[in-house]
Amino acid sequence: MKASLSPPRPLRLLVASAEVHPYSKTGGLADMVAALAKFLAKAGHRVGLVTPLYRGLRDRFAEIKPFDWELRVPLGGRTMTATVGVARPRPRLTMYFIDQPEFFDRAGLYTDHRMEYSDNPERYIFFSRCVAQLARHLPWRPEVVHLHDWHTGVAPLLIRHQEWHDAWFEAPKTCFTIHNLAYQGQAPAWKYELTNLPWYYFHADGAEFYGGLNLMKSGIAFADVVTTVSPRYAREITTPEFGCGLDGLLRARENVLTGILNGVDYEEWRTTRNPHLTHPFTPRYLAGKTAGKLALQAELGLPPRADTPLFGTISRLEDQKGVDLILGALGEMLGHDLQYVLLGSGQLHYEQGFRALAERHPAKVAVRLGYNGGLAHRIEAGCDFYLMPSRFEPCGLNQMYSLRYGTIPIVRATGGLADVVRDVREDAELANGIQFTEPTSAALAKAIRKALALYAEPDALEHYRRNGMAADFSWEATAERYEAVYRRMLGEGAD
Ligand code: ADP
Ligand code: GLC
Repeated sequence: MKASLSPPRPLRLLVASAEVHPYSKTGGLADMVAALAKFLAKAGHRVGLVTPLYRGLRDRFAEIKPFDWELRVPLGGRTMTATVGVARPRPRLTMYFIDQPEFFDRAGLYTDHRMEYSDNPERYIFFSRCVAQLARHLPWRPEVVHLHDWHTGVAPLLIRHQEWHDAWFEAPKTCFTIHNLAYQGQAPAWKYELTNLPWYYFHADGAEFYGGLNLMKSGIAFADVVTTVSPRYAREITTPEFGCGLDGLLRARENVLTGILNGVDYEEWRTTRNPHLTHPFTPRYLAGKTAGKLALQAELGLPPRADTPLFGTISRLEDQKGVDLILGALGEMLGHDLQYVLLGSGQLHYEQGFRALAERHPAKVAVRLGYNGGLAHRIEAGCDFYLMPSRFEPCGLNQMYSLRYGTIPIVRATGGLADVVRDVREDAELANGIQFTEPTSAALAKAIRKALALYAEPDALEHYRRNGMAADFSWEATAERYEAVYRRMLGEGAD
């Protein structure tokens, strides 16, 4: 036995992401990064979190204060400047907001009127260069830089290059997390010049992809460690089916590739003392859930009926999410006694499809197009079943939120959905949801039929609900897994 075990030393970590809840959000990336930083800081580490200062943030968050620092960033032939805003939302966590109005003071994060900004590569190469400068010059000397998705993909290369050629002794280690391989940040080759890096990194094992620049690829190729957001997706992306053209590189980097399942911030996603919910409930007091369901039906203009099963979805309306399968399956299933609510926005033809469905079935289907964080909580809590038929899903958060809220998830067996949801076929005792495999409306309709049968058996239904509510995906455990990754990179790891 060892005589004494001193507590592990706190780490100095710089995290960077294009979106961070509650400042900016288009999807789960914002939730994941916010929770990662929060729980690392809670665990005692020194954490900096860098993100762009988008329009309106200074007005909405008065605590963002100017920081006495001007960044001067070469971007190809010109030099751009940025100032930095700082906030300290909790002990040991500092937010750094990159204030560059030409790039970030815009109507949307990445798009305006559904059109991608054509200079997104410029905007995020610039952002990555700011991250590298902060990493190098922050007085508290970060020892690990944790980058997220393609927006930050060139940062690992910038850091490595400066270590090799620009006398950056003790440069930090870099961890690059893939949240969604379908978005890679591709650009014409000439935009590589905006990095001011030598062209010898621009090759098929580096930042180049079929003659163009690929920022996601740069992150995967040059980071010390690559992670993704569920174990199953980590395996899937090494195959041609899910690899989006990068599976070869990912196989080559398999020895540094890990899948770590995201967690849930249960301080936010809670069924009691939650300001977004009309009625609190617990596994022992499910009557509160029924009261919330009736209130939700009323809020949505659906007939308030406790005994009609209510299905729901909250989602970006994109091909990835299988929303066409929902439209198809509902077309087949709306003859049954059920109701459905959708909250989401995205591709126009999906928005129109759902709007038309609601117009045809006003007593059965409610559709809210747009973004609404509070309503998302009430839908998660008020529904009986949650539909998530994704074609692929790196992790997915809503199936985990559903479980905590006693709402039974119906998911396609892919990525994080397969890692989280237990189907009755897998384990009758521990079942908490319904899985199906084929990406077809017919397969989803069959799963909905199973749900209706389950709904007719109150004891079994309650068993599923309680199993779901008891499942534990707390962020403490996820943050510990990342900490282990950081320590291994620093040579301090447990083996
Ligand atoms: P993805 O990041 O691929 O969109 P996730 O399941 O990881 O999928 O995360 C989606 C997050 O965005 C969840 O927190 C979900 O509640 C939220 N969300 C998506 N669309 C909306 C919306 N229209 N209104 C409110 N929240 C939304
Ligand atoms: C991406 C993925 C989603 C994941 C989220 C957070 O947006 O599409 O599956 O949950 O990132 O990691």
